[in-house]
Amino acid sequence: MRKKLKDAVIVITGASSGIGRETALQLAKAGARLVLAARREDPLRSLQEECEQAGAQCLVVPTDVANEDEVSALATQAVQAFGRIDGWVNNAGVYALGSLEKTPIHVYRRLMDVNYFGVVHGTRAAAAQMKTQERGGVIVNVSSEASNVSVALASAYTASKHAVRGFSSAVRQELLDTAVRVSNVMPAGIDTPLFEHAANYTGKEAKAPEPVYSPEKVAGVILDMLVRPQAEIYVGATAPLFGAIRHVAPATFDRMMRKQAKSHLKEAPQAVTEGNLYHPVSHGTSVHGGYHGRSKQWVRRIAVVTTLGFGAYRLVRELRQYA
Ligand SMILES: NC(=O)c1ccc[n+]([C@@H]2O[C@H](COP(=O)([O-])OP(=O)(O)OC[C@H]3O[C@@H](n4cnc5c(N)ncnc54)[C@H](OP(=O)(O)O)[C@@H]3O)[C@@H](O)[C@H]2O)c1
Repeated sequence: MRKKLKDAVIVITGASSGIGRETALQLAKAGARLVLAARREDPLRSLQEECEQAGAQCLVVPTDVANEDEVSALATQAVQAFGRIDGWVNNAGVYALGSLEKTPIHVYRRLMDVNYFGVVHGTRAAAAQMKTQERGGVIVNVSSEASNVSVALASAYTASKHAVRGFSSAVRQELLDTAVRVSNVMPAGIDTPLFEHAANYTGKEAKAPEPVYSPEKVAGVILDMLVRPQAEIYVGATAPLFGAIRHVAPATFDRMMRKQAKSHLKEAPQAVTEGNLYHPVSHGTSVHGGYHGRSKQWVRRIAVVTTLGFGAYRLVRELRQYA
């Protein structure tokens, strides 16, 4: 199936670290031609070297996805270099942790500018080009389980990812009579530098919420979507599980997620930071964030079983209240 990616031209935003970086590496191995975008040029150049060593042709285009003109220029440069765009992965994203009162309003706006409008800019640029191509193309939007359920202390992020899901779904319907497909990928907590890059107004150091899955797993799903797109797909068991619990027991779900949010914070103090919202940071240029995504599978399983048990217990209690 992956053979279909040989020579395909794929644009990836947010390729300088984490999921985007791993996606580029897997695509390079599959023989795709790559256009790598993010704001940090140095990590993009080192990624370009790695991809070229794997035999891939690569173009680096430093881009801020919040800027519509820069994203249009990214599409133009991709077509100038490779003649077409077969796949576009809208993966760039930023994170912010903080309560409603302590998170400044400009942070809410910036998360929409990057996480939501970045996807809108990319989707418009990609669709315009793909519609001109006989074989169309595939747009993969990386949202989050936070596009389906809510994450306490991350209301700005949750809202931006809900927006991505709604937008992707509406555009997918609109493009049904073309050869352009839109896929929405919704990962659970992933072991990437996202949390060390994050804006933080909690006073405590952030970490990936348990259970943590690997960026390799997400990248594999993105490659699958590029070959055989599905409307929506979760990565990590907690994403659909949380959705199911919210559906049957919304009040229980709210209390559960409030507890779950604590697994997002370490005890170590952290000064207020805007993280990488407005300017990229020099740290966190690798695929992994050091939360041991894959190696602690047993922790994940225990966490899932505990969460499920707790959810079921609260659900029964809640149903009894209304019986
Ligand atoms: N890690 C998780 O638990 C998780 C879970 C669900 C969904 N996701 C989503 O997965 C995507 C990738 O995140 P990640 O986990 O791999 O974290 P990451 O390592 O921090 O990657 C984010 C990428 O986005 C880029 N970026 C940030 N702001 C940008 C901007 N304005 N313009 C262009 N690029 C920008 C960053 O590079 P520069 O700073 O160089 O621009 C970086 O390459 C995000 O959309 C995130 O919301 C992550």
